[in-house]
Amino acid sequence: MERTLILIKPDGVKRRLSGEIISRFERKGLKIVALKMLILSKERAEKHYDVHKGKPFFKDLVSYITSGPIVAAVLEGPGAISITRLMSGTTDGSKAQPGTIRGDYSTGIEKNIIHASDSAESFQHEFPIFFQDGEINQYQCGDESNLY
Ligand code: CMP
Repeated sequence: MERTLILIKPDGVKRRLSGEIISRFERKGLKIVALKMLILSKERAEKHYDVHKGKPFFKDLVSYITSGPIVAAVLEGPGAISITRLMSGTTDGSKAQPGTIRGDYSTGIEKNIIHASDSAESFQHEFPIFFQDGEINQYQCGDESNLY
């Protein structure tokens, strides 16, 4: 089954939106298989965002994502990667569609509430920065036959 990584960024946590965001994904039918709160070190943040190294916003991005606690989760379900990206909305909150997480809660591009892996390759890169394989919980939900 497909898995993806989401991060609720410091703005989302400090605005008390963690439960609301996780709830949206649960209600959609995705399954939480790993979940934790942490403060990222500069080194791990730079690794997570290494595709953006050299871009003008890289330093500020690392400084921001390490500025407070984040919530990291692995979500599982068919199409989990594209579903979480669609539900998150376009990167810039000022342009994101209402009804998406960024469209409903963000007006900016840096403080944009959530990160979600954009491909299976990104998930493979990002997952070990936040979790070990043994932290994935495999279990069945009673409604799976009605979902997929
Ligand atoms: P995220 O989905 O976490 O992936 C990379 C992040 O870089 C993105 O969300 C934005 O928060 C940030 N980002 C992307 N483009 C810009 C930009 N032009 N200026 C500032 N931050 C940006």
